[in-house]
Amino acid sequence: MTAKTEVTDSTVTNRIEKPRISVIGTGYLGATHAAAMAEMGFEVIGVDSDPRKVEALSRGVVPFFEPGLPELIRTHVESGRLRFTSDIAEATALSDVHFICVGTPQQSTSFAANLSFVEDATSQVAQNLTHDGLIVGKSTVPVGTAMRLREIIAGVVPEGVHAELVWNPEFLREGKAVDDTLAPDRIVLGGTSPAAEALLREVYAVPIAAGTPVLTCDLPTAELVKVSANAFLATKISFINAIAEVCEAAGADVTLLADALGYDVRIGRQFLNAGLGFGGGCLPKDIRALMHRSSELGAYSAAGLLQQVDEINMGQRQRVIDQALDACGGSVLNRRIGVLGAAFKPHTDDVRDSPALNVAAALHLRGAQVVVFDPEANDTARRNFPTLGYANSIEEAAINSDVLLVLTEWDSFKDYDPTLLSEIVRRKTIIDARNCLDGSRWSDAGWDYRALGRTAQVAHVAHPRERHAASSREFALA
Ligand code: UDX
Repeated sequence: MTAKTEVTDSTVTNRIEKPRISVIGTGYLGATHAAAMAEMGFEVIGVDSDPRKVEALSRGVVPFFEPGLPELIRTHVESGRLRFTSDIAEATALSDVHFICVGTPQQSTSFAANLSFVEDATSQVAQNLTHDGLIVGKSTVPVGTAMRLREIIAGVVPEGVHAELVWNPEFLREGKAVDDTLAPDRIVLGGTSPAAEALLREVYAVPIAAGTPVLTCDLPTAELVKVSANAFLATKISFINAIAEVCEAAGADVTLLADALGYDVRIGRQFLNAGLGFGGGCLPKDIRALMHRSSELGAYSAAGLLQQVDEINMGQRQRVIDQALDACGGSVLNRRIGVLGAAFKPHTDDVRDSPALNVAAALHLRGAQVVVFDPEANDTARRNFPTLGYANSIEEAAINSDVLLVLTEWDSFKDYDPTLLSEIVRRKTIIDARNCLDGSRWSDAGWDYRALGRTAQVAHVAHPRERHAASSREFALA
């Protein structure tokens, strides 16, 4: 690193007040990070190139569903510690620590990540610096990106101003973003000078005091921690989905098996829910970007493993489509299908790469009349898939259906009393693609209950007399 790209000790020692913070990009990551920094007592400016988003956030309106976030933003907009602007020059001039939180979507023409937003944001911060600054990358990037960003910074930072770039990945989950940001599992600081590390320990003083471990490392390790964490979670999900296939073939129950595995502390129960598989704005694109980057680096084992993880995951969507076809006697043409769930997981209205909508759309394309209900994601789903039907309640989605699919495990679906639907559906068939329902409750209410990775077992327990008929219909997945 050249002297020009280092934060000077004076950035830390000559400042008596708290460091002021800018957050570039106010999507899930940036909006939550900005609000959390304000909650931790800092003066924060959130920057976004979209003036409508800036205007909405300034009124405390969050353009996506994230529990607790609107309240936190409103509290700190009112307290004066948090504000939003689309003027990056103003935000940069008024701040000491600049968090880069813009998106790194998958490129439309390859599996690689699109880094143009990260490069633009970093370059703009660097060229607008009016005093020494610490630029902190939080976006998920392919390993090697930060070194290139340092070169970009060195080329544009004004003469006499010192800038240092470090990497500090974020691990927040949608639906739990506020808690994950206020009380992270760990804080990873990559490529810091002693002065930058001291400054970031000041910024994260609250979680550090509460016991959050801090790991300092080189830049590539920090970049890789994030994508490796997501790749591991994705691998865990695809592992249990592969085992679910064995369970089906052998007549075992994958949910009981996962419980038994989970008691081993080396394995743990989380991310062992077999079903429709993973989606969302992170896991799919992150494993593909890592696959791509691993191949570029000649690390073919990782690339091969992740390819398999991706294939197993996408195969789960096809399995549910096949189950729906089978439940309708081989064709869904002119059948009515009720779909419960559109979001890629509960507690969010995010439908990016949603397995639920992928299945719903595929059935619609095969000629079914598909009616979707999601407690939070109907609007986002309708914007992306306007040709599907949308209902305002479980009952409205279920009415006259030939088969009902549960594709997102919202609590309101899990708790639902099956007898309330028995009279209004055309056929009492339900496919629990998230293994989230109490199967025996539905079977006891006279429903043909089908799931992934435990079909044979549930059929055996719930319908001893129908067992032979069920297995001869081969509903345990082609
Ligand atoms: C993920 C990571 O968890 C988070 O640390 C990272 O910062 C961003 O990516 P998120 O995309 O919000 O977070 O969702 P997550 O809770 O990880 O779920 C991802 C997908 O996996 C969902 O579609 C979910 O339904 C699915 N999933 C999860 C399973 O299919 N089975 C499981 O056991 C767990």
